[in-house]
Amino acid sequence: MKAVTWCGTQKVSVDNVPDPTILNDRDAIIKVTSTCICGSDLHLYDGFIPTMQKGDILGHEFMGEVVEVGEGVPGDKLKPGDRVIIPFTIACGNCFFCKRQLWSCCDNSNPNAWLAEKLMGYSPSGLFGYSHMTGGYAGGQAEYVRVPFADVGAFKVPADLSDDKVVFLTDIYPTGYMAAENCNIQPGDTIAVWGCGPVGQFTIKSCFLLGAERVIAIDAVPERLEMAARSGAITINMADEYIYDRLRELTGGIGPDACIDAVGMEAHGMTLDAAYDRFATATFMETERPHVLRQAINCCRKGGTVSIPGVYGGIADKIPMGAMMNKSLTIRTGQTHVHRYVPKLLERIQKGDIDPSFVITHKLPLSQAPHAYKLFQKKQDKCIKVVLKPGM
Ligand SMILES: NC(=O)c1ccc[n+]([C@@H]2O[C@H](COP(=O)([O-])OP(=O)(O)OC[C@H]3O[C@@H](n4cnc5c(N)ncnc54)[C@H](O)[C@@H]3O)[C@@H](O)[C@H]2O)c1
Ligand SMILES: [Zn+2]
Ligand SMILES: [Zn+2]
Repeated sequence: MKAVTWCGTQKVSVDNVPDPTILNDRDAIIKVTSTCICGSDLHLYDGFIPTMQKGDILGHEFMGEVVEVGEGVPGDKLKPGDRVIIPFTIACGNCFFCKRQLWSCCDNSNPNAWLAEKLMGYSPSGLFGYSHMTGGYAGGQAEYVRVPFADVGAFKVPADLSDDKVVFLTDIYPTGYMAAENCNIQPGDTIAVWGCGPVGQFTIKSCFLLGAERVIAIDAVPERLEMAARSGAITINMADEYIYDRLRELTGGIGPDACIDAVGMEAHGMTLDAAYDRFATATFMETERPHVLRQAINCCRKGGTVSIPGVYGGIADKIPMGAMMNKSLTIRTGQTHVHRYVPKLLERIQKGDIDPSFVITHKLPLSQAPHAYKLFQKKQDKCIKVVLKPGM
């Protein structure tokens, strides 16, 4: 089959690789009909995530048709022919963490847990196509993919909803929703969202769905700010305005009730601390650029919440602990517990509360993945979200 493989920093290619096969009783094989490129894939593409190997198959946002199931998958749960979306987090459904709905913390799905334990103390769940530290699983930017624990890790979707409407249930729609839910939004709240990439866009929509009065969206890419404005957000172009002052002015001098970092480890900035991050990452003094996280902590009102859907991978430097502690901030974060959200967010799509396809700007054949990664990474051709089609 054809699959998109990682070949080194800013190099991906489309290669012929062996078809996946059933390895365990609870596996299923999916024929992929739609698969997307995520901001998290850019961290791999840009070489920020350790333990990638040449030839690793990328992709964690994918859906398709079940073609084969293992003996441990009950027929009433899943069978060949079913059309399904697959959460990017791999979870067993039975462990201490899965039972508590902390699906991205599953204790049974990362065969390389020891690697993650060295860095983090305990290992998060396995993830599709996301380095050997999170399991070394082949990803879904491919014609076929093996899905472990498919009896709990595949969700059937109704035939009348197109791929474009449901494919983002695999990651970015639940991610935006969890980021907003983590802010415990109260009537009248103002929420500031850094980053108007696909995750930021779903975060903005979700803040409104959960009752925020105002959402303030921050980025420097005009078409992304325009999309945020179409969802009802007030926008701040960080290239033109001083963010702290503008947020203060918009909130009667007290700061936003919650600040959301939907940028993560590759933040850009023009300030001194952003310049420090460029130097510190180049010299391995830190593994990421937490400029937005610092700004979110500083801009948040006292007693407010900082929610972090943006991905961090290792060690960040110069985090303003003094501000966090003395302002009584609540910090919420995590890889998304996707399984927890799929049923209720699917219901929102069916009710017409949201049409997730609004974020798609490019639909390309899988064979054009190298071009698609470049478009998305460089934000060329007003690219916001790419869907790759193996059958195109
Ligand atoms: N928690 C999870 O489970 C989860 C799931 C999916 C994605 N993510 C993460 O969410 C983040 C966003 O993903 P995406 O797909 O939207 O990526 P993206 O790269 O398309 O978007 C990031 C946006 O941030 C903007 N940005 C950069 N520096 C900024 C700054 N200083 N201030 C404001 N905006 C700035 C960029 O212009 C860009 O529009 C990534 O870190 C990704 O890994 C997390
Ligand atoms: Zn993703
Ligand atoms: Zn589990």
